[in-house]
Amino acid sequence: MLDELVTVLSRCKRCVVLTGAGMSAESGVPTFRGDEGLWRKFRPEELANVDAFMANPELVWEWYNWRRQLMAEVEPNPGHFAITAMEKWFEHFTMITQNVDGLHRAAGTKSILELHGNIARNKCLDCNRPFEIEGEIDSGQIPACPKCGGKIRPDVVWFGEMLDPETIQSAFSEAERADVFFSIGTSAVVHPAASLPVTAKRQGAVLVEINPERTPLSELADFRFSACSGELLPSLMDALRETSGGGD
Ligand code: OAD
Ligand code: ZN
Repeated sequence: MLDELVTVLSRCKRCVVLTGAGMSAESGVPTFRGDEGLWRKFRPEELANVDAFMANPELVWEWYNWRRQLMAEVEPNPGHFAITAMEKWFEHFTMITQNVDGLHRAAGTKSILELHGNIARNKCLDCNRPFEIEGEIDSGQIPACPKCGGKIRPDVVWFGEMLDPETIQSAFSEAERADVFFSIGTSAVVHPAASLPVTAKRQGAVLVEINPERTPLSELADFRFSACSGELLPSLMDALRETSGGGD
């Protein structure tokens, strides 16, 4: 099946990749919906929303501090590096990620749309201004915005919040024009991200899914690899390089 995909890809100019938490699993970042993703028995939906933050900002900050520390210690895996190589291989390439861990950038990928923000950044809850601080946020003494006094929060998208309009619009416009769309390591249940592959497919893109588990997208996919992205993507890049005579 890999050979068949390589043949198809050699005719594709515009490639779009959507990634989710499974992409970073092999780097040691827990996914959201796996059992190991639970922190003190909380489901992410219970902590990643404005009401939770208003009710108990200390608890939400403790969770983010735990995740920040975890993400600061991990490194990109071979899947991330294979995507960086894909970016160079295709004439036009866009990476759309739901991950907030920054690992795609760390692996050298350039064209990245971070749909759900970035966990390393902070902003004001009330006026949205970015907030920079050396070191950690103390969950017992959450800083206040120097402009408006609002509480400082992580610059990520929470459940029930809008995505940055420009970012999501660019993502949809790339999806619409894609020749091939890869959905990698995402459970494809959180919208609007989960609509991107459907849009791409409807507009004629070849849809490829890489995920050891089936998802709502699996039925739609033209190619489905029940595999870990850190293994499958490097093999795919090797196969592509072979057919194109060894280029980068
Ligand atoms: P999920 O935790 O929902 O899904 C992770 C997916 O990765 C699952 O389908 C796994 O089967 C798959 N997976 C696990 N290991 C893998 C591997 N080594 N290679 C490939 N796939 C693997 O994470 P997301 O789909 O990213 O949103 O979740 C979407 C959004 O929900 C997140 O961005 C976050 C979350 O709550 C917000 O915080 C707004
Ligand atoms: Zn403010």
